[in-house]
Amino acid sequence: MSRTPSLRVAVLGAGTVGWPVIRAFLERPEKLAPFDGVPLTLAGVADTFMDRVIARGVPAAIVTDAPAHLVADPDVDVVVELMGGVEPARTLIAAALGAGKRVVTANKHVVAHHGAALEATAREHGGTFRFEAAVGGGIPILGPLAADLAANEVHQVRGIVNGTTNFILTSMREQGSAYADALAEAQSRGYAEANPRGDVEGDDAVNKVVILARLAFGAWLAPVDVRTAPPTLRGVGRPGVTGVTADEVAAAGALGLALKLIALAEIGADGRPAASVLPSAVERDSPLGRTDWVLNRIEVMADPVGTVAFTGPGAGGDATSSAVLGDLVTLARGGGSTWAGLAPASEASPGTDGADPLAVPRAWFAFVPGVVPEQVDLGPEAAVAAVQGGTAVRTGTLSLEQVRTALLTVAADGMDVTLYPVVE
Ligand SMILES: NC(=O)c1ccc[n+]([C@@H]2O[C@H](COP(=O)([O-])OP(=O)(O)OC[C@H]3O[C@@H](n4cnc5c(N)ncnc54)[C@H](OP(=O)(O)O)[C@@H]3O)[C@@H](O)[C@H]2O)c1
Repeated sequence: MSRTPSLRVAVLGAGTVGWPVIRAFLERPEKLAPFDGVPLTLAGVADTFMDRVIARGVPAAIVTDAPAHLVADPDVDVVVELMGGVEPARTLIAAALGAGKRVVTANKHVVAHHGAALEATAREHGGTFRFEAAVGGGIPILGPLAADLAANEVHQVRGIVNGTTNFILTSMREQGSAYADALAEAQSRGYAEANPRGDVEGDDAVNKVVILARLAFGAWLAPVDVRTAPPTLRGVGRPGVTGVTADEVAAAGALGLALKLIALAEIGADGRPAASVLPSAVERDSPLGRTDWVLNRIEVMADPVGTVAFTGPGAGGDATSSAVLGDLVTLARGGGSTWAGLAPASEASPGTDGADPLAVPRAWFAFVPGVVPEQVDLGPEAAVAAVQGGTAVRTGTLSLEQVRTALLTVAADGMDVTLYPVVE
């Protein structure tokens, strides 16, 4: 018996993101039937809580707690992986791609850590892999990078890609609160998990910058090689935002700066892609400086377009479901993988130049406790301000060695100070 051509979709995981995706099939099917494509139909849902899924209106006949069964089902054309975690997500995605199926995921960890292998599997077996929701939640950024901006030479992609840390830093600035209190507030509002390590130490943003670099520069960088710890006067600081203090946030404000966790990928002076995720200082009165609370913003600098920016909700079930559903509609219109049209990726370790602040002279921000501005001589390009308990410093363009030498002459014996790159 012939049936109307459609793409039969199985959703694995009916949680924060998965449920709004499933709800769209139940409530807005017309949005999932593109005029120039085939309709998308819901063929299966896998979740641990089968009863809850059925109670919410999904026909019991298509609900299972065994996601592998849906992946293996020959009647399933599209697998939407929204379970999260590493396993079994990675294995199921690989199996579906290996069977030549279409796969959509929001799983930034799996894409960033296993992207090279999954891309190779998809290319070898004719699978299609889309993962717009893995970066920027509801913000369309990967599609524009790979398609609309494809004729450009991209120089740099940078931005605020983690709402949890942006909430914490904004809260510290607005309320003058300590890091621990701002983190506790983020947790109480549901913006940070009980174990916040993946967000606050920068790993989540690393996953996103690795994926951005794949689309912008054609290489899968190894997440472990992406720097997350800022340099200090005497060594290396704590990763992500975990070392940022209330005094530093206030001192940055005295110089018209804001501290943000900035993910950055670019082609370094050595011609290789480089990436970093570092607490950085930006002009408070700049688009990045004004991106507060849980908002995300991603900027792309490219030739010939110049600078284009994408801003919006970087997380949340409803917003993220928009990107997942957009990928599904693209598939229903005959579209390929997120990287379609781009050359196969190489695997590369990040270069040592470019985004690594240890390698390139740049401006730096630091709060030096127990020092008055008159003691700090960093030349005419520098700005200094007296703040409670010390001095706020913004240097001109200096190498790391130069800024260390200058500040070591004034810093008290043994005192360490975080050196924040200024992102201009
Ligand atoms: N939430 C966001 O704002 C957001 C934004 C962007 C991307 N993402 C990504 O989207 C993915 C899903 O995140 P989420 O927030 O929706 O997670 P979630 O709320 O925990 O939902 C995951 C669902 O999948 C189920 N599940 C997990 N493993 C399963 C298995 N082996 N078999 C059957 N069911 C299983 C879970 O059931 P149990 O609870 O029983 O495990 C849960 O109902 C993650 O990769 C995440 O990184 C999320």
